[in-house]
Amino acid sequence: MKQYIGGFLELELFPQPGPGYHAAALGLHNARACVSHVIAQTAMRRAWVPYYTCNALLEPFEVDGVPYQFYALDAQLELFSLPVLAEGEYLVYVNYFGLKNAYVRQLLAAYGGQLIVDDTQAYFAQGYGAGWSFNSARKSFGVPDGGYLYGPADILGTDSSYPLNTTYNATYLIDRLRGAQQKSYAGFIAYEQTLGSAPLRISEFSAALLSQVDYAAARAARRANYAYYHARLGHLNTLAVPADLMALPADTVPFCYPLLATGGEDIDRQEFFKKNLFIPTLWPDVLTRQFTAFDWEHHLTKALLPLPLDHRYGPTDLERVVQVVLELLGEEDL
Ligand SMILES: Cc1ncc(COP(=O)(O)O)c(C=O)c1O
Repeated sequence: MKQYIGGFLELELFPQPGPGYHAAALGLHNARACVSHVIAQTAMRRAWVPYYTCNALLEPFEVDGVPYQFYALDAQLELFSLPVLAEGEYLVYVNYFGLKNAYVRQLLAAYGGQLIVDDTQAYFAQGYGAGWSFNSARKSFGVPDGGYLYGPADILGTDSSYPLNTTYNATYLIDRLRGAQQKSYAGFIAYEQTLGSAPLRISEFSAALLSQVDYAAARAARRANYAYYHARLGHLNTLAVPADLMALPADTVPFCYPLLATGGEDIDRQEFFKKNLFIPTLWPDVLTRQFTAFDWEHHLTKALLPLPLDHRYGPTDLERVVQVVLELLGEEDL
């Protein structure tokens, strides 16, 4: 029953009927909430987490008092060595740049229900059967919240005890839509700082918007844009990235084009910014941790350029990025 009847109309979002893209998952408000739910559902005693990640991923373990241990990655962004997990121990692996779905399946064979896949860069992946996995909707679409959690059916649990998220803010999204870029960015940063790991159910606002996405088109755009970057810049890339996405599982959808070029470390990201190109550092937190090893992870953080390729962009936009990258690297256009 409606609480208020009559008067002016609220913002209408026209949610699409049907099960939705992540119908088999629990819909929570962000990735951290998903991790917190996994901790609650499993009697987790310890977690292994990659050093190459942001502190946000560590937050639920810290908040919920679960000790964690860092592990190192090799040149393929895969574990140097696979730890033997005792009962109650879990391995968290980040599906880097949305490109590691095939490797995730190898880890699944090794760890089954003790694997937790961080698909925050792989929104299109739809769970891995016996393992746990979660994503973060606002990293891939213009919504203020959302994180879908997959897990073993018998212990996935429900979201019924969590309150609905009504504390989201969408003003910064509308500001960017209006072209008020600086105001929008300030709003985005301020809003991000309000997000925590205590689970809430995904807002009706984001759920409705996500029900309207043309996922096939968004996936095709990302894959085509990846191919464009690879054709233009692949010869400069020292990271072992796939040359042909078509040869990989269909749920492999790139988050960005990860360019690790010689000299990338010396590029001042402000130079991109001055040209209205936003190329973030993934992840600045890596450089602030007080560990002496993990040289590869430090190098990745400083040098890797995650070039944007989402559904908003096509060849003209990408070529603009390519030209600036070539200029800043001091490379000739072949
Ligand atoms: C790899 C990774 N995992 C998890 C998170 C946390 O996501 P959320 O902010 O949706 O909780 C982030 C956010 O930056 C991330 O980059």
